Amino acid sequence: MTILAIETSCDDTAASVVRDGHVLSNIISSQAIHDTYGGIVPELASREHVKAIAPITTVAMQQAKCSVDDLDAIAVTYGPGLAGSLVVGTQFAKGLALRHAKPLIPIHHIEAHVYSGCMDHPDMTFPAIVLVVSGGHTSLFHVTSYDAYTVIGNTRDDAAGEAFDKVSKMLGLGYPGGPHIDRLAASGDRALHDFPRGLMHDGTYDFSFSGLKTAVKYFLRDHPVGTEHGSRLEDICASVQGAIVDVLVSKTMAAATAHMVSSVFIAGGVSANSELRRRMHDACAAKGVRFAAPDLRYSVDNAAMIGFLAEQRLRSGHTLGSGLDVSVEPNAIRSAWRRM
Ligand code: KG4
Ligand code: ZN
Repeated sequence: MTILAIETSCDDTAASVVRDGHVLSNIISSQAIHDTYGGIVPELASREHVKAIAPITTVAMQQAKCSVDDLDAIAVTYGPGLAGSLVVGTQFAKGLALRHAKPLIPIHHIEAHVYSGCMDHPDMTFPAIVLVVSGGHTSLFHVTSYDAYTVIGNTRDDAAGEAFDKVSKMLGLGYPGGPHIDRLAASGDRALHDFPRGLMHDGTYDFSFSGLKTAVKYFLRDHPVGTEHGSRLEDICASVQGAIVDVLVSKTMAAATAHMVSSVFIAGGVSANSELRRRMHDACAAKGVRFAAPDLRYSVDNAAMIGFLAEQRLRSGHTLGSGLDVSVEPNAIRSAWRRM
């Protein structure tokens, strides 16, 4: 089965060809235009998608040595995400599907992240606890199959990636902030500053990172970086990262124990974090639970995970309609899903 996948939910234009669970191409064009604004400007994102979508798709098809005739279906992200960005991807995919008489499969962006850990790990089995941590989401899922899951926890305010990004901005580092903080934290002391670990012991699987952001703001006012009696950038990064990772690991492992699962996955942009990967690996090993994180290429926003999930769903018995009635759903947040 060969699937062309298109993903434009935020600021990356991505296309991929997936065949029988293998990624033949995975092309991502990241929009540098937002760097000067310190965050994503939705209108600019849509315009950049319009420019990039056709060439990116052509490269993905060429790199996969694939022609349109080889395709069994086209998959596209319909939500959640920025409305204008989603419209560009879905309209482009619809046009291709119509022109070449291929079925169109709408895919939910967060669900694609949820299952992205399975891409290089066919040995991993359900039921599983999956932590999806990105710039827009921090959620824990209890997943029983490619067709059924329940969201058991969410952030009540900022997403973990947002906390990394906002702290990075306060420290004068670039956007996105996670990679900068991850790199600097490697030579810092994570125990030096005690930043808040929101909701860590409240007995729920919910998260809160806004208190951490505020604490860092006042800490920096009182201890400016680099001054004689100030603080070291590396120590602040290590302590902030330590606080975020402590909460993520603690809640995920509590959920794994309570639901007695055999597998734990992490996914989404923040799952690239080196301390999170190491600590989750160690915590799972100590409990005898299998652990997987997607390859770094599939932890950030990408189209390969969209194609992968579309194929798994087809294999588990989904039937193909024309899909041409797909409409974008910028707020497509689900608390549970089960195919009837
Ligand atoms: O999933 P993603 O590419 O986009 C969405 O938000 O959907 O995630 C982007 C987020 C950003 O907040 C970025 O700072 C964070 O992932 N991130 C990281 C790392 N790499 C990316 N956070 C911590 N450590 C990293 N190494
Ligand atoms: Zn994402």
